Amino acid sequence: MLIATNISKKFIMKESNGLFKRKTIKNKQAVKDISLKIEPGKIVGLLGINGAGKTTTIKMIAGLIEPTSGNIMIDNIDVIKEDKKIKSIINLISGGERNIYWRLTAQENLEYFGALYGVEKEVLNERIKSVLEKVGLIESKDIPVERYSKGMKQRLQIARGLINDPKYIFLDEPTLGLDIYIAKELRAYVKKLATVEKKGILLTTHYITEAEELCDYIYIIDNGSIIAQGTPSELKENLTTNIQVIITVDRLTNDVKTEIDDLFKNKSTKISFEDDNKKTIKIISQKNYTCDIIKCLSSYDILILEMKLIEPNLEEVLFKVLSGGV
Ligand SMILES: Nc1ncnc2c1ncn2[C@@H]1O[C@H](COP(=O)(O)OP(=O)(O)OP(=O)(O)O)[C@@H](O)[C@H]1O
Ligand SMILES: [Mg+2]
Repeated sequence: MLIATNISKKFIMKESNGLFKRKTIKNKQAVKDISLKIEPGKIVGLLGINGAGKTTTIKMIAGLIEPTSGNIMIDNIDVIKEDKKIKSIINLISGGERNIYWRLTAQENLEYFGALYGVEKEVLNERIKSVLEKVGLIESKDIPVERYSKGMKQRLQIARGLINDPKYIFLDEPTLGLDIYIAKELRAYVKKLATVEKKGILLTTHYITEAEELCDYIYIIDNGSIIAQGTPSELKENLTTNIQVIITVDRLTNDVKTEIDDLFKNKSTKISFEDDNKKTIKIISQKNYTCDIIKCLSSYDILILEMKLIEPNLEEVLFKVLSGGV
């Protein structure tokens, strides 16, 4: 289990004010008191807009930058104090094409990174073979990476991330800049890493649908702090008031309108009626009250012609949370 407790990062920047003037020192609180957990076999998402603090958080958890305060334990190993020990059980994969040597082949890249991660020589060759097979690059292992397509380079990034057979994998914007097909393939692969190989995965993204599709648990961060957290369905349930039910009926009488109004009087529900050509009842509420409505309508012998239920998606939740609407 990975447990980060109250981690914060304040960057201190020296800014030059012209040739002979003194430098001014500025602080930037990039991350503030973030606590999170990752269990093996689960995918945890860090979701937030540009500059929210996602990369800073993932880098602290991967031991690449030291937190200003807080602590991070991975399987009872202290990431800050025992950084050498931690290297064998974690790996960070960043989106884009950094971290691979273009002139080298996939085989050579993986030999280099394997040595860097301290993978023993006897194990390394077998490991390279098995990760290249996993990501489908075994046939192209001796071609220089500069001749690879973007999708192949991305798969090599994953192979690089698996070279030390880590128990926890951190992915910073893994699908950034990829076309929809390659992104889909990659998402399926990430899912498999968690469900089949039981890796614990931390993923940063600002694609809400990606978080919704992949993550077992999501932390929404804004301005360096966690502002909401939960499973995708919990987030949708707890943070929205926006289930919309639109019912088209054959007629609407004043009696039934009054009864429906009375029914929802104390339920923080918004009801509107449209009584023109099309007769509709629109209900916006936190809960799904369709049963009550159907009962009420049938007691007046009113025929339901159409019923539409519009549930919120995570995107609406995020907009709502980030605009302070909760
Ligand atoms: N080395 C640094 N020195 C100073 N400020 C930094 C440094 N790295 C990040 N920041 C600042 O910290 C804040 C968080 O940055 P971070 O890169 O973690 O955001 P992010 O959520 O990953 O954004 P993006 O979606 O754009 O990748 C930003 O305001 C950024 O400018
Ligand atoms: Mg980032």
